[in-house]
Amino acid sequence: MLKKLFIKTYGCQMNVYDSGRMADVLAPLGYRRVEGPEDADMVILNTCHIREKASEKVFSELGLLRAHKSRKRREGSDMIIAVAGCVAQAEGPEILARAPHVDIVVGPQTYHRLPDLIARVTRAGGVVDTDFPVEEKFDRLPKARPAQSVSAYLTVQEGCDRSCTFCVVPYTRGAEMSRPLADLIAEAQRLVAGGAREITLLGQNVNAYHGRNPAGAKRPVASLADLIARLSEIDGLERLRYTTSHPRDMTEDLIAAHRDLAKLMPHLHLPVQSGSDRVLKAMNRGHKASDYLRLVACLRKARLGIALSSDFIVGFPGETEADFRATLELAREVGFAQAYSFKYSPRPGTPAAERDDQVPEPVKSERLARLQERLNADQLAFNRASVGREMDVLFERKGRVDGQLVGRSPAMQAVHARAPKGLLGRLARVRVSQAGPNSVTGEILPVAASAVGGGA
Ligand code: 5AD
Ligand code: SF4
Repeated sequence: MLKKLFIKTYGCQMNVYDSGRMADVLAPLGYRRVEGPEDADMVILNTCHIREKASEKVFSELGLLRAHKSRKRREGSDMIIAVAGCVAQAEGPEILARAPHVDIVVGPQTYHRLPDLIARVTRAGGVVDTDFPVEEKFDRLPKARPAQSVSAYLTVQEGCDRSCTFCVVPYTRGAEMSRPLADLIAEAQRLVAGGAREITLLGQNVNAYHGRNPAGAKRPVASLADLIARLSEIDGLERLRYTTSHPRDMTEDLIAAHRDLAKLMPHLHLPVQSGSDRVLKAMNRGHKASDYLRLVACLRKARLGIALSSDFIVGFPGETEADFRATLELAREVGFAQAYSFKYSPRPGTPAAERDDQVPEPVKSERLARLQERLNADQLAFNRASVGREMDVLFERKGRVDGQLVGRSPAMQAVHARAPKGLLGRLARVRVSQAGPNSVTGEILPVAASAVGGGA
């Protein structure tokens, strides 16, 4: 019998990937994804624990779901509620204590066991599975089903062995693990056969990727640059990206890949977090601001015009006005095409949360506003600099305005253009005519797009 499955995804792209894989695991049990929770037989909240607000949202959503579940029970059916992802991993049984209508709590490393967990659910109480199992999740998962969109995600690496003092990821996702090269090539081939034209390689620290090479290869282990080179050979795959990278793992071969591999898009998300050496040290980032600037110079030399994006944290414990100004200065020097910035949020169990020099909330807010003003201005400047230029755009969806499609430029800008629906899922040449803070607008050019999606 067909059952309705609603998955709500919070947080990063890896959670988006995981949600797809959970649907793959549940498909043999008859579950099909639906758009809303109202009539669902099962609801999964795939959660994020990275900042306080992210986890609080989960509990308010659980409150709403309780009403749906009670109604379904009154009508003689039921709704299985599962909390998955990083809040599940971090809070485990606490979730059942706070929200007793939850049936399953499952961490990011054990969701391949969902069928078994469903079988164990009783009306009397929920089940919790937050192991870091010895068996490999990826070996147990069914083969990923074909991509649902032209732009697909592929998890190549998970977890993190770096110990940034603000970050909860090592506790929720565990130690670093890279998937073998051959498995990734096979999965990418399936994605492309299913219609993907762009693949974004995912990992919490993706450029630390070191996956097993097939037997007989020159070296036992492949780097991310090796993986990208191999994936570049797949016919029909036009664009490759990867995220998120750590500056310390930006190796020479990966920088060279930006120069040599046309399918690797000229865009890089390389979080710096802070521009102050004192704060970077307290964060245990393992590099100075000047190292980051040198790296940016190397990348720009390797690929002229490469678009850089970053994450920033303001109000890390002990951050002074002078430290914060160093962050503003670094942002000004780099001129990021795009960036995310956050107020520091103490995460339970992390070293920085224990410090007694926490920055007051109003100071954090004021610094965030000042940084965002700088970053927004740089983003607008980057978009304005594209006006008049031609670029290949991969059209992914319909726009809000009738007759308009939205796609991505090589540099990851959202591009709006009047275009026939037939261009959905395809590359087209566009001349940019206008720029806004969050997107650009352009006209389709009559020439056919080149086979390769580069050439920003
Ligand atoms: N507080 C605020 N922001 C954080 N991030 C990670 N941990 C925290 C925290 N405790 C931000 C970092 C990271 C991004 C994914 O989230 O900037 O790069
Ligand atoms: Fe959030 Fe990090 Fe978990 Fe992704 S890995 S969902 S960003 S806590």
